[in-house]
Amino acid sequence: MPESFRTIIEPFRIHSVEPIRITTLAERRAAIAAAGYNLFDLHANDVLIDLLTDSGTGAMSRDQWAGIQRGDESYAGSPSWFAFLESVQALFPFKHVIPTHQGRAAEKILFSAIGGPGRAIPNNTHFDTTRANVEYTGAEAVDLVIAEGRQPSLVHPFKGNMDLAALERFIVERGPASIPVVFVTITNNSGGGQPVSLENLRGVRAVCDRFGIPLFLDACRFAENAWFIHEREPGQGDRPIPDIVREIASLADGMTMSAKKDGLANIGGWLAMNDDALAEQCRNLLILTEGFPTYGGLAGRDLEAIAQGLREVVDEDYLRYRIRSTAYLGDALDRAGVPVVRPIGGHAVYIDARGLLPHIPPLEYPGQALAVALYEAGGIRGCEIGTVMFGRHPDGTETPAAMDLVRLAIPRRTYTQSHVDYAIEVVLSVAARAADLRGYRIVREPPALRHFTARFEPLPA
Ligand SMILES: Cc1ncc(COP(=O)(O)O)c(C=O)c1O
Repeated sequence: MPESFRTIIEPFRIHSVEPIRITTLAERRAAIAAAGYNLFDLHANDVLIDLLTDSGTGAMSRDQWAGIQRGDESYAGSPSWFAFLESVQALFPFKHVIPTHQGRAAEKILFSAIGGPGRAIPNNTHFDTTRANVEYTGAEAVDLVIAEGRQPSLVHPFKGNMDLAALERFIVERGPASIPVVFVTITNNSGGGQPVSLENLRGVRAVCDRFGIPLFLDACRFAENAWFIHEREPGQGDRPIPDIVREIASLADGMTMSAKKDGLANIGGWLAMNDDALAEQCRNLLILTEGFPTYGGLAGRDLEAIAQGLREVVDEDYLRYRIRSTAYLGDALDRAGVPVVRPIGGHAVYIDARGLLPHIPPLEYPGQALAVALYEAGGIRGCEIGTVMFGRHPDGTETPAAMDLVRLAIPRRTYTQSHVDYAIEVVLSVAARAADLRGYRIVREPPALRHFTARFEPLPA
């Protein structure tokens, strides 16, 4: 970037375009009503700016598409496997790398091997698939993020950090024998995309060493986390990003990964570790559920796309643009008085819907009301992260979630600044008439994970 200018530009030119179908307010009102006011049930062609998730929704580069053409589909020992392996180990030099079709498949295999009743897995905050895969084995998933990480408006440079004292207490109380692994999620997606510092990772490592427990990373957004370390951690500003990533890796015994995030790919993941016996057990499960160990759940072409994506994601110009463009959206909303989780995380902006719509009680779903209003007003699709997602319990009761948020997740290298300016304008126009928004009631819901398929009805004014 030419240093004398303030504007941070997208460090790419557009090479192939996808049309966005411009819709009218009446069309969007009809579409969301037909979808039972559930944004997951919309036809994506009816969405103008899709901020539902950053997972697998990014644009691939020219060189990734070239890799796709080069993909070799040999069942065993494909050159594309070796390209993938080399790229993964250049950043994460674990002895064993096990390719999977996405992150949750790596989780399923790992926790099938090491989970089970009576066991507990601490994490800063488990992502929902991680928690579900731990709990499916009968083990307990425990979140031990620092107290600052639970307060939306409190500014702290590393709100994803693990509470080291709580971790140590937990291990002593439960006994190290019942804790097969400690996890750290970088960045902490469920906690607002907040980073973890190197210092904190070293601290977690020291606790693990004291009790002889392995440390694994849920490393989906490792490059974004490394950028925050580069920018915010004393003494790290001059280090190349790959060096920071390798130090992060050196502190762990293994990792799970979704390549749909910082692999810059549309699909893929892996599980990696140093332990030979555990790797053998996991490979046997891989063959049963995913595929042969040199392709896992992936085509050779996917392995090539990930191999190239991993080279591109640690580029400083890319990361500067990535983190800055997310903050650009969040800062604009914050400046205009829209309550957001602060500081702005790496991959998403989280609007505090409960704060913006205090007249809508949590059990009338302010997050859903805001998400629907953003779609109706301007075709922006975000995701409710609140009482709809977390309020229903296995015993059938319903309570308000800790927060009612709307997440606007930014797909990588996909939208331009004018798309983001448009999104800001839409949010501000909805915020200006916040008092007119109404709550919702659920008319149909499944027993679990209701946010994906529930049907809603607006409450009368
Ligand atoms: C922190 C974290 N872990 C795990 C996963 C699961 O990855 P996948 O969607 O590839 O199964 C995700 C996906 O969003 C995630 O954000």
